[in-house]
Amino acid sequence: MQTQDFMLRIVYLNGAFLPLSEAKISVLDRGFTFGDGVYEVIPVFNGNIFRVEDHLNRLASSLAGLNINIGISRDKLKSILVELLRRNPATGNQQLYLQVTRGVTERDHIYEDNVTPTFFAMCKAITKRDFSAGVCVITHEDIRWKYCHIKATALLASVLLKNLAKATANCLEAILIRNGMVTEGASSNVFIVADGIIKTPKKDNNVLPGITRDLMVELLRDSGSLCQETDINEQELQQADEIWITGSTIGVVPVVTLDGKKIGDGKPGRYWHQARELYETYKVNGPHTLQQRDYVV
Ligand code: PDD
Repeated sequence: MQTQDFMLRIVYLNGAFLPLSEAKISVLDRGFTFGDGVYEVIPVFNGNIFRVEDHLNRLASSLAGLNINIGISRDKLKSILVELLRRNPATGNQQLYLQVTRGVTERDHIYEDNVTPTFFAMCKAITKRDFSAGVCVITHEDIRWKYCHIKATALLASVLLKNLAKATANCLEAILIRNGMVTEGASSNVFIVADGIIKTPKKDNNVLPGITRDLMVELLRDSGSLCQETDINEQELQQADEIWITGSTIGVVPVVTLDGKKIGDGKPGRYWHQARELYETYKVNGPHTLQQRDYVV
């Protein structure tokens, strides 16, 4: 459990470590006025900042997608993350939240190139949730924009979709459909199993290139499973033998009900059990890419 009181947590804002209660930004920050920014959520398992290079690579491509220059080197970024964890000691697993906005300007759609970005980072405990019995999800039209490969902070559509899912039989996720094809969850990627073949939608501008998704494809293929990155239509989703959703803060989660109908026999399937085993083993034995001892600040 996080030892600090919520508002006493130490966060990082624009060059300084300070208590969350003292972290202030201008009301003309474009992240506040336009949602003009990007973010990352990086899990920290047993003190190891998980797949940190993949996450920082994705942050860099999101920033490039919005033409924002963070102005901080990758090494400096890593040392900030390590120092943040050092200042917020915790026993369980944590998640790092990083957000970069274009910065403070007049409220005007047009921005100048020389704006100084706002960089905020914090860490908090990953709520321990047991999904091993499976979860229910709804499907919904993908009402988001067409640059979903950019991890933008403008998440209003995803917020509305997740709350609709929760209001509908307390479901965890909304699996989204665009032009009859599955894209992803409102805050997760999607896998199905059909006739022994594992499938996940290919990466394009309609989905976020999920770190957990990419890791699962790697692990499944290395284990000899047939795993295809391919189109999945709505009917294939409904008739799948198994459906999983993946994400940094949930791992690999079995879906047992879709729009109120059972998937398979309504229990987590054998392919999911294998996938979860691969993921959990990797979390413990995988390359520990960045730990607090790696960076003396
Ligand atoms: N969400 N797709 C979307 C739209 C997401 O928001 C996320 C993650 C994912 C999974 O990506 P990854 O495996 O890299 O976490 C897919 C994060 C956790 C969030 O918004 O909190």
